[in-house]
Amino acid sequence: MQTDIRKDLTEIVKQLKTYLEETREEDFWHFKEILVDKKKSGLRGKKPNLQVDLSMHQSGAYLEKALTALHKRIKNCQKCGLHKTRINVVFSRGSAEKGIIFIGEAPGYDEDRQGLPFVGRAGQLLDEVLASVGLEKEKVYVTNVVKCHPLFNPRTPEKRGNDRPPNREEITACLPVLKEQIFMIKPKIICTLGAVATNALLGKVVSLTKIRGKFYPFRVPFGPETLRVEGNLQGEPYGETKLFPTFHPAAIFRTPSLKNIFINDLKKLVTEVNTSAR
Ligand code: URA
Repeated sequence: MQTDIRKDLTEIVKQLKTYLEETREEDFWHFKEILVDKKKSGLRGKKPNLQVDLSMHQSGAYLEKALTALHKRIKNCQKCGLHKTRINVVFSRGSAEKGIIFIGEAPGYDEDRQGLPFVGRAGQLLDEVLASVGLEKEKVYVTNVVKCHPLFNPRTPEKRGNDRPPNREEITACLPVLKEQIFMIKPKIICTLGAVATNALLGKVVSLTKIRGKFYPFRVPFGPETLRVEGNLQGEPYGETKLFPTFHPAAIFRTPSLKNIFINDLKKLVTEVNTSAR
């Protein structure tokens, strides 16, 4: 009898835990709640209300150590099929010194080989534009939604031009890593490069052309994964930052007229980051 009650209670606690974790996830990715157009919400010109001390882990040796530990932890990840063909798990480059994270979609051919994001053709263009707007590439943090190279044809991994965007399953498998990176860095601005990254962060498909080049209040998670890994971290359930979607640099190769828009977007980002108080 006692054993039955114990069993039932264990099951109830288990289900409750799952439910709480799921609703927490939904809350974080809930687009309608998070994405507020400044014009419509009357937030224009006002600074978003920072609910937590965003400077807490934003720089320094502690952050570096936490990020390195996370990188190490995912080096042998096998959560999706991409592990079968990858050469490297491509984690990040740069630093969080400026409080900006750039997020692309997934590594390509060169990135897979060098183990660093945005080091191929698109990366060179990104670096050129960063320099032109006065952002030192070493002072911004660059990563991707998916950390392994998605191949069109996995049987010809040596072929160039064999890249494809990550699919939903790969994005879902890899998002917790990005969430942890964001959680640790607590950036002032999250700049998504292209539709894949923007949609992944918002959890729904949006028109990039319509929403790009603007800042949106955005909640960052204090996720359960991170709390388990970094047992000593404390804080409110959420901190608020800003999301700034823009084009992916590779889009400029297809449509060169986007280059000026991309440069102007990044100029806006620099102005914002320089004027927003820590
Ligand atoms: N495109 C991306 O989205 N990420 C990279 O790292 C390289 C190209």
